[in-house]
Formats: sequence, structure tokens, C-alpha cells
Amino acid sequence: MSAHLIEETHPFAPYRQLPPEELVARIRRVKAELGERLLILGHHYQRDEVVELADLRGDSYRLSALAAANETCRAIVFCGVHFMAETADILANRPERLARRDGERIPVVLPDLSAGCSMADMAEIDQVEDCWHQLSEVAPPHAIVPVTYVNSSAALKAFCGRHGGIVCTSANADAALRWALDRGEKVLFFPDQHLGRNTALQMGIALEEMQVWDPLQPDWGGGNPDALARAKIILWKGHCSVHQMFLPEHVDLFRRQYPGIKILVHPECMMEVVTKADEVGSTGKIIRLVREAAPGTRWAIGTELHLVNRLKKEHPEQEIYFLSPVVCMCSTMYRIDLPHLCWAAENLAAGTPVNVIRVDDATAADALVALERMLELPGGG
Ligand code: 13P
Ligand code: SF4
Repeated sequence: MSAHLIEETHPFAPYRQLPPEELVARIRRVKAELGERLLILGHHYQRDEVVELADLRGDSYRLSALAAANETCRAIVFCGVHFMAETADILANRPERLARRDGERIPVVLPDLSAGCSMADMAEIDQVEDCWHQLSEVAPPHAIVPVTYVNSSAALKAFCGRHGGIVCTSANADAALRWALDRGEKVLFFPDQHLGRNTALQMGIALEEMQVWDPLQPDWGGGNPDALARAKIILWKGHCSVHQMFLPEHVDLFRRQYPGIKILVHPECMMEVVTKADEVGSTGKIIRLVREAAPGTRWAIGTELHLVNRLKKEHPEQEIYFLSPVVCMCSTMYRIDLPHLCWAAENLAAGTPVNVIRVDDATAADALVALERMLELPGGG
């Protein structure tokens, strides 16, 4: 059968034909029927029409914390990407919560299974294990602390749990790096080199103390054992395809065109952009800075397009520009749309959940160790 025919016969296919008003009404009907038993979480990068239907919205840190804290829901629909749904599954179904619910699991549903993260895909567990093995020749394993950005598979979080490491988000990367350096001499930071480098630089760690590890190189990540032995921070060569689109020349252009403009960027942007910016911050911090700024403030913001457009709409008293002449949106976040959300919600209501993200128990147990270390960091997010 051709791929086209498979698509046409998929139970989801009829949802594509429905008008948006009907989809919204049907999703609202499921929300009313399930009440507090259903929790729809929405990341700030989601489309407006999806975010409007979320019970709670947040950045990666806040959504992890919300999934960890909620005691009333019996199902979660995660409007975000795959690693976020995995994290919610681990936190919502951790052993003490399962025991309190007499073993009842909370299904975590990702409305479209193809909503992944290209950055998370840049570090695979076999590559990380291989890197760890090679690094054990330049430093004893207990001297190296692995730190994974939450934008990573559950297997990598579990690796950190097993090896004395921690998870971080862009909201607490500095606290996580400090935590790691209190416990070891070196940090192996994956998968986002930019978040690792920008955070370490802000903490006063010099560029010369950092080494990049390229997993596609056969030996020593493309470096050499002496340099790796000296390095304090080893940065995995991964990046966000959305945030790498912002360039230093865009900052220069905005500064020339709009004197006094404030450049505000996410730490997944490259160092050359971050060092030229006025402010750098996680999604939560970006929103907070704009909300708290004086009316009439001019901003050029370097982060995902949907969030910047929403900030423009919600803050007409400020002058907000998108810090790139080209469209940079997260195409995988964008995959979650009204037809997928309606299909996922109605199946939950019917007791036939679809697209349930389930991390196996052994991986979840190890990943939970690293996630709980993050949730216990001072300041959280
Ligand atoms: P935060 O939500 O942590 O700011 O991260 C942005 C991001 O890229 C989500 O994938
Ligand atoms: Fe991944 Fe970048 Fe999309 Fe975030 S914005 S989900 S890091 S590809």
C-alpha cells in the first residue's frame, strides 16, 4: 500500500477535513467532560490556537515542574515535543506517585509522534557511551560529571542518573553546571554546545578551558587527549536548528537601524550572538523581561517565531521585532495542530488513548535520579 493510501485510511485522516471551529468545539467538549482528570500542557513555541486550549503553558522547566507537581490529573496531553512527553511520563509516573494511585499510570499523549527535536537527535546513547569510554582514558570517571540539557532522550537522562550527573534546562543551566563542578573536575555537557558554552562563559570559565566533542569523528571527538585532559568543560557538538539561524550581523543591523534597541536572545543562540546581546535568557526569562519592561521599550528578540509573535500581540505597548530576516520556527513543535489535538483528546475520552509515550521502567528509574537533582537545585527555574 502506498504511503498516501496508508495516510488516507489512518483513523486520524477524517480530522484533517474538519473546520477549525468544529475542532475547537470538540476539544472543549472533551475538556468539559474530563475536567481536572485531563491536563493539557502547552510549550510557549506552540501555535496560538493550540496554546489557547492548554490548561497550563510554560517553558521546558516549568512544564517539567508542573508534570511533577500535579496530583489530580489522570491523563496528560503534551503539546510540545517528544523529549518533553518522556520527561512528563517519568515524573508523573514516578514510583511514589504510582503507589499513591494504587498503580494507576497516567498516560502521557503526544498528539503527533513526529514532533521530535533535531537537537535531541544529535546525541545518541551509543555515541555518549563511546565518548565516556574514551574520556575515561584522560580522567577517572568519577572526576567527570555528565550534564544533559532536558532536550535529550530519556536514555541520556538515565546515563546522567547512573553516572552522578544531572539534567538542566535553559532556566537553570548555570546552577546545574555549578552543581556539577562542585562534584567533579570536569563536565561533559550534551547535546547543546551553545547553551553549555554561553553558560560556562557567563560563569567566568574561559573559552580555553572548553573543548568541543564531535560525535561524528572517529577518535577523541575530533580533538586530542591532551586538550581533553586539560579541559574543564567538554561540549557536545549539537545545536538547535532554529536558534542557530540568528547571526551576529542581525544584531548589528538592528542596532544600526533602531538606536537604543535591546537585543534579547535565548542561550541556544551561538556565542557570537549572545555576547553582542543586552540580555540572554530562557523562554521564561524572555517573557518576564518583556512583561516587566517600561512601555515604549524597543526589543529585537532572538528565539522561536511563534513566541515572539505572541509577545508582540500581548504587548502592544512595546515595540517588538524578530531578530532575523528569515523565518525561524520550530517545525516539529508546529506539527501539533488542532486536528491532532482533537484526535488525541477524543481518543482519551473514549478510553482508547493514542500516541502514548512510555519510557521503560529501568530507563525511567535512572533518568528520575538526574531529573530530581535538577528539581532540587536552588532557584529551580
Ligand atoms: P526552554 O523552554 O527551556 O526555554 O527551551 C527552549 C527550547 O528549545 C525548547 O525546546
Ligand atoms: Fe529542539 Fe530547537 Fe525545536 Fe527546541 S526549538 S524543540 S531545541 S529544534
